[in-house]
Amino acid sequence: MTTLYGVIGDPIAHSLSPIMHNAAFKALNMDCYYGAFHVKGRYLYEAVNGARALGFGGLNVTVPHKEVIIRFVPADETSHDIGAANTIDFKTNRAYNTDAPGAIASLKDNGVDVKGKNVLVLGAGGAARAVTYGLLENGAAVTIANRTAPKAADLAAYMREYGDVFGTSMDNLKEKVAIADVIVNTTTVGLDENETLVTADMLNRKQAVFDLVYRPVETKLLREAKRAGATTIDGITMLVRQGALSFEIWTGERPPLDVMERSARDAV
Ligand code: ATR
Repeated sequence: MTTLYGVIGDPIAHSLSPIMHNAAFKALNMDCYYGAFHVKGRYLYEAVNGARALGFGGLNVTVPHKEVIIRFVPADETSHDIGAANTIDFKTNRAYNTDAPGAIASLKDNGVDVKGKNVLVLGAGGAARAVTYGLLENGAAVTIANRTAPKAADLAAYMREYGDVFGTSMDNLKEKVAIADVIVNTTTVGLDENETLVTADMLNRKQAVFDLVYRPVETKLLREAKRAGATTIDGITMLVRQGALSFEIWTGERPPLDVMERSARDAV
């Protein structure tokens, strides 16, 4: 019998996860199917329990449900520490967070080891939370810069338990960028292909620039980083790696990253 998986979120229509996971299932000849389900907050509990009752293997959980989900699905250590999960495995009935390790894998696979490095995280929302945790757990010193500075300070205070982190505003961003080895954009700036917080004149070839935005794949930030000769890592790289880690939790199999990546890049 076919084992079902899926992603729940609101909105969900543009998710690339079904394409990516179904491509991996096909490549591994697994009798599984992954769908996208539009679930409003008020139905979250029923949707998760319904999927479990229907015999689903697992779920991905996306915006805006990542925080709420751990109120009723037991969280593993990483998702507990972050305060958010993106993966539920019904075998173990546990919630996991693959965003943090997915971000670290994206950096590592591009030759960036963050241990002992200064990393500037732009933004202090949900994505910044997971990325900052992953960075701290891997020995980076993190500066969180956010348009609304108090949110950066709050996130830094919460994360201080896990490493060297502080929060600040976006003021004097040029100087903040100049002292960073790695710059990670977790803000939504870049969804508009003509917008970026950081330009080529602020960057150099020794730095790495990682943009979580994946629509467009090549954001203005990444174009500027390339012009400066910096290492660039795009949002599809991250999307594929968090997905692959979920796949592994559910199935115990390591999926073909290249297949998942190609399917996502072709679809975007
Ligand atoms: P996600 O869950 O993807 O992290 P989010 O929680 O809505 O999304 O966070 C969006 C982030 O993008 C926030 O850090 C937001 O800054 P504020 O906290 O000041 O709102 C940031 N952001 C959005 N638009 C921005 C802009 N035009 N300039 C700078 N930062 C922006």
